[in-house]
Amino acid sequence: MRTVIIYESLYGNTRRVAEELARVAHGHGDVEMVAAEEATPESVDGADLVLIGGPTHVHGMSWKATRQNSGSDGDRPLGADAAGPGLRDWFQRVGRVDGISAAAFDTRFDGPEVLTGRASLGISRRLRHHGFAEVAAPKSFVVDHDNSLLDGEVARAHQWAESVLESLLADAAH
Ligand SMILES: Cc1cc2nc3c(=O)[nH]c(=O)nc-3n(C[C@H](O)[C@H](O)[C@H](O)COP(=O)(O)O)c2cc1C
Repeated sequence: MRTVIIYESLYGNTRRVAEELARVAHGHGDVEMVAAEEATPESVDGADLVLIGGPTHVHGMSWKATRQNSGSDGDRPLGADAAGPGLRDWFQRVGRVDGISAAAFDTRFDGPEVLTGRASLGISRRLRHHGFAEVAAPKSFVVDHDNSLLDGEVARAHQWAESVLESLLADAAH
């Protein structure tokens, strides 16, 4: 099983979730983590599963303007993604994908999603538009207003990855 994890992260929260997903996927085969600014259409070639996630900005996926207008966060430097392309840009370059299994995730503020929005909904829509086979509902992991992942969110990411991979492997066995 080859898993590719494509992530966008300015402050490290989505990257931290992506790292946990990678840890789980590593137990089931090869894993590659690809930052959004380095992702190419070929990044998903040969993948059995693509997990793709980014931060929620202004209720949805980030835009160039929302990345560039983000300030530094205390002593946390901005990731290189702030200046570079984000997931929207990657989806614009990727062509039609022939049924590669995939699932979307995001990080966002804790609270009712009607107030916060969720980047994973836009990612999910783009996955389906490009012909990926979505194998799990879009998933959010939440941060507090100090921009830190809430306790237990990394464990939730672990469980989510386990459930996505196990259901994929069970389907493959039938
Ligand atoms: C410009 C900007 C806009 C944001 N807008 C939202 C929002 O509309 N809803 C939300 O839940 N979180 C919002 N957030 C919070 C981020 O989604 C959250 O801090 C996320 O975990 C950041 O991920 P990262 O560390 O991977 O960059 C925003 C953050 C920034 C910098």
